[in-house]
Amino acid sequence: MQLDFSSDLSNVVKIIDTLKHKKGALLPILHQIQREIGYIPLKTIDTIAKKLQQTPAEIHGVISFYHQFRTSQPGEHKIQICRAEACQSRGSRELEQHAKEHLDIEYRGTTADKKFSLDSVYCLGNCATGPNVRINDELYGRVSNEKFERLVSTFKTQVKGR
Ligand code: FES
Repeated sequence: MQLDFSSDLSNVVKIIDTLKHKKGALLPILHQIQREIGYIPLKTIDTIAKKLQQTPAEIHGVISFYHQFRTSQPGEHKIQICRAEACQSRGSRELEQHAKEHLDIEYRGTTADKKFSLDSVYCLGNCATGPNVRINDELYGRVSNEKFERLVSTFKTQVKGR
């Protein structure tokens, strides 16, 4: 479930206060915020830093180190391209370049129409059929540039809620 992230930080404060006493609290806190809100809003970083007695730069550093964290709202459809070795050997590097150009965004970005966000992932457990792409919860194998465009086109025309 994704909560509505209004201008107040009460959801985030509650998450931090619940988890801050755990050892290595930052990662569980970031995961929980992303689970509940869908991303880690930049304006929450100062609050996280203050409550954990760290600097905002340290929090930023951790967020940018882990590819699964994002600081912008994800699109309606979440596209993930596998960058792990087996998929790389089957052409995922070329595919990710094509995907970025086709969607006109970089990794961790969201298209202007908010339809798609693009992220990398490291192994989807389907190595024999790379390059692999996951869109929302569906896995697609042997994704060529053309197949990627077809998939995007299909999701673009999908009516919301179906
Ligand atoms: S390396 Fe891509 S699915 Fe395993």
